[in-house]
Amino acid sequence: MEKLFTVSDGIDSWNAIIFLYNSALKEVRTKVEILNDEFQQVHQYNPIEYIKTRIKSPQSIVKKLKRSGYESSIDNMVNYVNDIAGIRVVCSFTSDIYRLAEMIGRQNDLTVLSVKDYIKHPKESGYKSYHMLVTVPIFLTDRIIDTKVEIQIRTMAMDFWASLEHKIYYKFEGNAPEYISRELRECAGLISMLDAKMLQLNEAIQETKEAQEEQEEERKERGAV
Ligand code: GTP
Ligand code: MG
Repeated sequence: MEKLFTVSDGIDSWNAIIFLYNSALKEVRTKVEILNDEFQQVHQYNPIEYIKTRIKSPQSIVKKLKRSGYESSIDNMVNYVNDIAGIRVVCSFTSDIYRLAEMIGRQNDLTVLSVKDYIKHPKESGYKSYHMLVTVPIFLTDRIIDTKVEIQIRTMAMDFWASLEHKIYYKFEGNAPEYISRELRECAGLISMLDAKMLQLNEAIQETKEAQEEQEEERKERGAV
């Protein structure tokens, strides 16, 4: 991947880095909130339930660099750790995820570096989410710096599973007994069924509402003649 910024750009301290990533998170969060607000205005419906943001802790950054065989330096963390700034957007229905991802992809000032669709292709663990790695330009007093943000888009059910699986699984540091992994995968299946059912119910109610509105229109028209 191309280098985004380096120590020679003057981004040479932990504080400067964290300031940049925090700014990037604010930008992306606002963009996503505006999309949600606009959707509410136009369709009287908001696809987002909640948003969480976080900056990766120094310990986790160092651990990740070590795991990938890089020494701890500002340049290495900027170039090789893609999830220093992370935003999690939790939607109501699976269909909202794709709608939102498309809207994010269309924003001219964001550059999408990569997309991983773990909904169409769930992980071995059963994990489902839609991941986008983007850069957002941060306007400083004397220059513009493109900064990476990892966006995870999922439903509440997927978020529920991922949060608890993380808690359960991390206690084993990847060495969980086979039956635990298997049961967690089973739970992921149950969660997917719930998501599918809720989506189906939402679509059914939508159709019923539209049919009722049409009937009401017709009734009014007949009354007017
Ligand atoms: P990481 O080194 O974990 O960041 O993986 P990666 O660089 O290959 O990226 P990937 O898109 O696979 O995963 C990034 C993030 O997705 C992780 O930091 C987690 O937040 C989440 N994630 C991925 N797999 C799992 C999983 O099996 N369980 C849970 N709970 N979260 C996961
Ligand atoms: Mg990660």
